[in-house]
Amino acid sequence: MANPEYIWMDGKLVKWADATVHVQTHALHYGSSVFEGIRAYASPDGPKVLFLHEHVSRLYASARLFRMEIPYSAEEMTAAIKQVVRENKHESCYIRPLVYRGDEALGVNPRRCGVHATILTMVWGSYLGAEAIESGVDVGVSSWRRTVPGVGMSMAKIGGQYVNSQMMAMEAHDHGYHEAIALDTQGNVSEGSGENIFVISNGVIYTPPMAASILLGITRNGVMRIAHSMGYEVREQNMPRDFLYIADEIFFTGTAAEVTPIRSVDKVKVGSGSRGPITARIQQAFFDIVNSRAADQWGWLTPVN
Ligand SMILES: Cc1ncc(COP(=O)(O)O)c(C=O)c1O
Repeated sequence: MANPEYIWMDGKLVKWADATVHVQTHALHYGSSVFEGIRAYASPDGPKVLFLHEHVSRLYASARLFRMEIPYSAEEMTAAIKQVVRENKHESCYIRPLVYRGDEALGVNPRRCGVHATILTMVWGSYLGAEAIESGVDVGVSSWRRTVPGVGMSMAKIGGQYVNSQMMAMEAHDHGYHEAIALDTQGNVSEGSGENIFVISNGVIYTPPMAASILLGITRNGVMRIAHSMGYEVREQNMPRDFLYIADEIFFTGTAAEVTPIRSVDKVKVGSGSRGPITARIQQAFFDIVNSRAADQWGWLTPVN
């Protein structure tokens, strides 16, 4: 796939090939960055960014947690996101704002390095494979646990914290799975390497709570809203691993993974081993809104034009 023409870098649009950093960049050595993952969907009026305000707010929350001052206002970053999608003439795309410590000094304390901001866009289809949305994915419970409170900050999207997600993803692939599910250090179900998880049992929808070392997913929030509007009971509560093996349906949510059914866990079929009816209903409602086939009743989409 061709690279887009521009990347937004420290306030300017630069050509893709010119958006480079020095090897002394602190973030490259210590993961001192915060980032977001956002999608823009095609519509008859041009691309529309999903949950733009929520993603920009979480970027600033991650920066605050990591004691980083972003040298642009949220309004400036929002305008820059729209600008780069527009100038790259995308119909739909994935958007990656990244705020990182620069190359002024090495040494663990990041504060001697300046804070830089960049926004990349790319064309990106289904994250877990083209068939995943309909057929579902096979996942394994990871031997890696999610971060402990007081060691990491699950509420922040900090670059260095994604070593844990990378270990999960590589292990899952090595074992022949599409993706992993991590437990928290208490053994409760936490989340995927880059997705939140929902488990359905007897018509009730369960998802791990904030304290189960999850990232508070923005898609998770949207899906809870859809589920409530359909009259389902949604419970944010801890679940032991056992619950996964007797669930009727399980699905992942995330900006990249959107709403993806899980058809097996550790080679044990989930329900009948294919997408379940509640998952299908929620998926349909989600994709109808983001693809502008249904009314955007909750104001989720922001046009870039
Ligand atoms: C660890 C982790 N959990 C969950 C999610 C899903 O969050 P969202 O729906 O906001 O993309 C992501 C993706 O950002 C993630 O990296």
